[in-house]
Amino acid sequence: LKILSVVGARPQFIKAFPVSDALRRDHDEVLVHTGQHYDESLSGVFFDELDIPEPDYNLGVGSGPHAAQTAEMMELLDAVVADEAPDVVLVYGDTNSTLAAALVASKRTPRLAHVEAGLRSYNRAMPEEINRILTDHCADLLFAPSESAATTLASEGIHDGVYVTGDVQYDAVLRVRSAAGERSTVLEAHDLSDGEFVLATVHRAANTDDRSRLSAIVDGLVDAPKPVVFPVHPRTEQALRDSGLWSRLAEDETVRLVEPVGYLDFVRLLDGAERVVTDSGGVQKEAFYLDTRCVTLRDETEWTETVDSGWNVLVGADRDAIRTALHATDPLPSKPSLYGEGTAAERIADVLSEVEVADA
Ligand code: UD1
Ligand code: UDP
Repeated sequence: LKILSVVGARPQFIKAFPVSDALRRDHDEVLVHTGQHYDESLSGVFFDELDIPEPDYNLGVGSGPHAAQTAEMMELLDAVVADEAPDVVLVYGDTNSTLAAALVASKRTPRLAHVEAGLRSYNRAMPEEINRILTDHCADLLFAPSESAATTLASEGIHDGVYVTGDVQYDAVLRVRSAAGERSTVLEAHDLSDGEFVLATVHRAANTDDRSRLSAIVDGLVDAPKPVVFPVHPRTEQALRDSGLWSRLAEDETVRLVEPVGYLDFVRLLDGAERVVTDSGGVQKEAFYLDTRCVTLRDETEWTETVDSGWNVLVGADRDAIRTALHATDPLPSKPSLYGEGTAAERIADVLSEVEVADA
């Protein structure tokens, strides 16, 4: 098959890393980067260190309001899809790049394949929730990371084309975990010891764009019982500076503000952290895979199994709840197996081969 894969934001480069590799064994892949993320630390570093093939197209769309960004992506992607005439357009996750490609594909002939189908936070104020729902409802092939994601799709009337593959991010973590341990020097660089620090990431719009939530998160971080290493997303740096909270973190002795790091360094940090505090979707799962307890700065999550298992706790942006969770020392329960066996990329490539045979 000729597959046109569309990526644009940091987590999508990481998801494409195992999937592109598997696809290219049996299929022709055209890789399109929308340019939604463009800083070296949010984009280039992943292509370099993970050996992801150079994108065949970089649309250079960049940042902007949702409508303008999504519309520009759609216009440029439409021309690429028309020229390349792929059999399948493959998209990942829930960003504006995902939605733009989904809408373009659904109005042209290729099938649309969605990796990470069936996730719901049930919070429609979250831009990603709208992106997920619309993408799933346009998709012909839905690659769900768990049975519960497939059940969610069924509850919305989507039964055909659903395949439970496991989570491609588990594949990604398994591929780099030992290399991260051997090659990354990030702990030494920031004077950190295994098990003796907290890792923090924040970038969700609900937190960055609301000063009172951001302020409560800052309070929680400065009050942490261990050193905190915080790779700061540019959106969050801007929000912290605009709201006058940056200096509070920068001058604090507990917190180390650093640039966003590459994947090997991030996996090393997450593996070595005593716990992680985050509002990221992907980091909640990766923490689980790496046996690191997770404190999630959100009111709800689409990765509910991590909470049900006792390894992840939702604290919103509530000062007291963040404090309690960062200081909790209760032992964690034994870990169930969630989201597959780390073979999701192969399964996706196999399903696409089955589709090709059925079409022939
Ligand atoms: C996007 C996704 C989010 C995903 C996240 C992964 C949407 C609606 N949001 O959020 O689901 O979790 O990526 O990290 O698609 N910026 C830079 N350099 C860059 C990119 C962005 O400085 O390379 C700054 C710009 O000021 C920009 C802001 O970050 O306005 C937000 O970028 P954007 O891509 O719109 O959303 P993210 O918050 O990164
Ligand atoms: N990540 C990274 N460097 C960082 C922060 C995160 O490599 O400084 C990786 C992390 O391991 C995960 C992905 O980026 O695989 C998560 O991306 P993000 O939190 O930006 O997006 P989300 O998953 O919330 O959509």
